[in-house]
Amino acid sequence: MNSLWIDADMGFDDMLAIMMVNHSKRMIAGCSLVFGNAPLPQVCKNAASMAATFNWTFPIHIGAAKPLVGDLVTAGHVLGPTGLPTLGRALPDADPLPQRAAALAALVQWLENADGKAELLALGPLTNIAILCLARPDLLPQLQCITWMGGGATSGNHTASAEFNAFADPEAAAIVCASGVPFKMVDLDACRQVTVSPADLIGLQKIDTPKAALLHDLFGGYINIGISKGRESMALYDPVAAAPLIDKTTLAFQTMSIAVECAGNLTRGRTVIDASAKGTGATQLGTRANATRIREMALSTLLEAAAG
Ligand code: RIB
Ligand code: CA
Repeated sequence: MNSLWIDADMGFDDMLAIMMVNHSKRMIAGCSLVFGNAPLPQVCKNAASMAATFNWTFPIHIGAAKPLVGDLVTAGHVLGPTGLPTLGRALPDADPLPQRAAALAALVQWLENADGKAELLALGPLTNIAILCLARPDLLPQLQCITWMGGGATSGNHTASAEFNAFADPEAAAIVCASGVPFKMVDLDACRQVTVSPADLIGLQKIDTPKAALLHDLFGGYINIGISKGRESMALYDPVAAAPLIDKTTLAFQTMSIAVECAGNLTRGRTVIDASAKGTGATQLGTRANATRIREMALSTLLEAAAG
């Protein structure tokens, strides 16, 4: 099995994706943090609290605080200052993350020791990964695959054209996409096939532990993002990208050309898909998701964590 690294911006869906991998017993070699759902200092605070609350043992390394080009963009206007909307309870304060190597140095060390069997799951803007591609192209053959939650084949969520992780650093997404490393994009269309709604909170309501109460409020806050927009449910984003790393039958992929628009005024950050072209042959788009199975994986992970 490939050694797995996760790069994340630590919203609720990042946390749930990481918990799903942990609960699958697949080992996480390390994790790097990137700005995104919130500014980097808040992402670090979230990560420290999640690690302390859920006994995460993998090393966490701090990465990019801003995109390669342009101004910092966060999802604060939707998610609030912490990047983690809640029904009441918030993640408890924790000691800051222990001092460790910065993300680039840690990623380099990981790849130098990977024996050609490394795999990356990226759940936020691709800045850390693009910096790795630019700094150490010689190490890229070590990477078997990068799976990314990002992009939108037909529409965006941050703008009409662009999904948030793509919009937050289009140049980084373009660099990674064109790096030649096998790249699997799990876009909005794939993620929107898998939804959660207020009825999914009932399981957590039945568990009488402090962790169940905390997870209930965080999960409820996440579901409310969709409800507050007049929908009946909310798409699960990052867990959909994590699912095929645990069970590859959960998401089908098709090779097609993927490019990222960096120039357009209205279309900056748009992922441009050509389903009729294979491009470099290294890029694949997630197509059909097994929503029942992915929901089951996500919900059972939450129940297990709540009981623990
Ligand atoms: O557009 C959804 C993505 O943006 C998710 O990865 C979410 O966590 C944020 O990073
Ligand atoms: Ca994310």
